[in-house]
Amino acid sequence: KAVLTDGGKSIDLPITQATEGNSGYGVSKLLSATGNTTLDPGFTNTASCTSAITYIDGDAGILRYRGYPIEQLAEKSSFLEVAYLVIYGELPTGEQLESFERGITRHSLLDERMRDLFRCFPRRSHPMPVLSAGVMALSTFAVDTTDPLDPEQVEGATVRLLAKLPTLAAYAYKNSVGQPFLYPQNSLGYVENFLRLSFGYPTEDYDIDPAVAKALDVLLILHADHEQNCSTSTVRLVGSAQTNIYGSVSAGINALAGPLHGGANQAVLEMLGKIRDEDGGDVNRFVKDVKEKKSGVKLMGFGHRVYKNYDPRAAIIKKHADEILKSSGRQNELLDIALALEEVALTDDYFKERKLYPNVDFYTGLIYEAMGFPVNYFTVLFALGRLPGWIAQWREMITDPATKIGRPRQVYVGETERTYPGY
Ligand code: MLT
Repeated sequence: KAVLTDGGKSIDLPITQATEGNSGYGVSKLLSATGNTTLDPGFTNTASCTSAITYIDGDAGILRYRGYPIEQLAEKSSFLEVAYLVIYGELPTGEQLESFERGITRHSLLDERMRDLFRCFPRRSHPMPVLSAGVMALSTFAVDTTDPLDPEQVEGATVRLLAKLPTLAAYAYKNSVGQPFLYPQNSLGYVENFLRLSFGYPTEDYDIDPAVAKALDVLLILHADHEQNCSTSTVRLVGSAQTNIYGSVSAGINALAGPLHGGANQAVLEMLGKIRDEDGGDVNRFVKDVKEKKSGVKLMGFGHRVYKNYDPRAAIIKKHADEILKSSGRQNELLDIALALEEVALTDDYFKERKLYPNVDFYTGLIYEAMGFPVNYFTVLFALGRLPGWIAQWREMITDPATKIGRPRQVYVGETERTYPGY
């Protein structure tokens, strides 16, 4: 028997009937089916799972890494310190942090042949697929770190990935704008080095704005992990086949590349641009269209699947966003629209009743743009921030004795047996 629900009504049907000629109910409404199998349409994205890395209380708007409140980490820690915490479970001592940072700095360089890999991609390739290919290529140059069951090799892969992802990301970007690649500068900090690799030129000194470096460090901290969402579950699922961290992280990058996951902040900028161009910057006109569900009008950057309250990351970002946006002088037009929309969202009953608070994506696009990052670099920045979380989740998965290879239990809902024509 299958139980179908349609607008709250339950309808019992024999499974054959449920699969034949009832497509109107749709598989997404098929709740439970044959034998001992429970068919939950949400299984692929809402099944319960455990982890000891990130705690989210969506009602209270709380987010903690390994028990430490994210706002305290954002204020007091550096991104690499948070990466250490997320991956190893404890805050590092001064000595541990120094040695962790030293290892990462030492490995920031890419093998010379990797430069040819970047050159073979067409100019203007989106940096995200290039980044994902770069991570796979990395595994072929670091074969002594690819055994997923050897803790020492896993350690080697962890350090190499953290060290080389900023270089890979910057090269993917440089390729997309047709500019020459720079070598990492080991005297610089993690974020400063990445900024120089992205925006510097081989023949010129690059002036690092400390406010931008600090804000980017905070943004990376805020993105370091976020439970088992689309990309992180992908990393764990791919890894459950004992695929090494490189292959699993590369898969995670591809998941993050999707517009519904990593691309949300880009969609916010596009929405603000539309309000400027089509509504003459009048947010009330736009909000009216949203309330009336006018076709083609989409509210982006509000509400979150998990948070029923203000996204805690949004509140922290906002503090830095104000400073960066005001001093940059860029995108001020869109900023004014964003602030007006934010004001409506925080006071209007429509938004309050639906708990549509601005989320992290509402601010990040604006702030990245003000820092000088082009829109197609936004998901790459997300990947850079999320890397410690992916690594930590992969390591948690591989060391858990209960881990089995991921394998959904499929319930067949297609045609019953048919005779081949003319047989
Ligand atoms: C994230 O930070 O990964 C996003 O908010 C998406 C999510 O949690 O599903």
